[in-house]
Amino acid sequence: MIKPKVFVTRFIGQEAIDKISQDTTIEVWPEELPPPYEVLLEKSKDSEGLLTLLSDKIDANLINSAPKLKVVSNYAVGYDNIDITEATKHHIVIGNTPGVLTGTTADLAFALLMAAARRVVEADKYTRKGQWKTWGPQVLLGQDIHNATLGIIGLGRIGAEMAKRARGFNMRVLYHDKIKLNEVEEKQLGVEYVSELKELLSNADFISVHVPLVEQTYHLIGVNEFAMMKPTAVLINTSRGTVVDQKALYDTLKAKRIFAAGLDVTEIEPISPDDPLLTLDNVIITPHIASGSFTTRKNMAIMAAENLLTGLNGDIPPNCVNPDALRK
Ligand code: GLV
Ligand code: GLV
Repeated sequence: MIKPKVFVTRFIGQEAIDKISQDTTIEVWPEELPPPYEVLLEKSKDSEGLLTLLSDKIDANLINSAPKLKVVSNYAVGYDNIDITEATKHHIVIGNTPGVLTGTTADLAFALLMAAARRVVEADKYTRKGQWKTWGPQVLLGQDIHNATLGIIGLGRIGAEMAKRARGFNMRVLYHDKIKLNEVEEKQLGVEYVSELKELLSNADFISVHVPLVEQTYHLIGVNEFAMMKPTAVLINTSRGTVVDQKALYDTLKAKRIFAAGLDVTEIEPISPDDPLLTLDNVIITPHIASGSFTTRKNMAIMAAENLLTGLNGDIPPNCVNPDALRK
């Protein structure tokens, strides 16, 4: 039997690669940087399966020039890098990695929240620069986390984990979502629903964004939304960069109209080292590492391998975002 050909766009750990290799003819892109689009296009032409990262663009053009393609397994929970409609039309199933990264992503979101509130990164730089001359009553003051109000935009799996962490700090937790939980669920999680985003924005001390990137969430937080926030507010974004209007964020932080922001994602990734945002002390930017614990990345790789292999078999992957693709 001829083994199906698959292209894996980055080394994702030996265990997953070995697992995939057993049943396929595998090629792994060996570099640190993503394969250029032209390369991805070329490799896709005769592949039955692709294992991709969020930095790989799987658009209609690529899908239309990959006649053998049956499955794209995305090594991420988000899949805004893939044209799902086009894939479904071509009966290509798309896998993702939900669940395994939920707690790890919420951990980093909470770390950014704490670091931005208490100016941890700025304080470390201050120490290294030799600015620590004495104990000072007014030095590097920040915002309290305990007893403050957290506003969660998007109470999915990750948003809910954020709410659980907040309870340990005795925070009041507001949430805004398309879907309202029932009262029992709200009580269990200790969250209060606000139907209007502006109500959340004007009442929260911390605002954390956990929505997927879709048309309706592009620039969800822009000039008007920043204007509604408290001057002491801290914005956290671990979702997708374009959910926040970065120019508006820059203007807001520069004018100190909110206290700080903590971002794991930017509108263009990687952010240019010359980006004006990086000149500001009141923003912390990590390089899209929220799911990056040793354990979680390994679990994502195994899950992505299983999704890929199941899709190659002509079945719906255990974690599939478009099961309709295989409906006759
Ligand atoms: C990371 O951003 C992911 O979607 O898994
Ligand atoms: C992702 O796991 C989410 O639904 O929040």
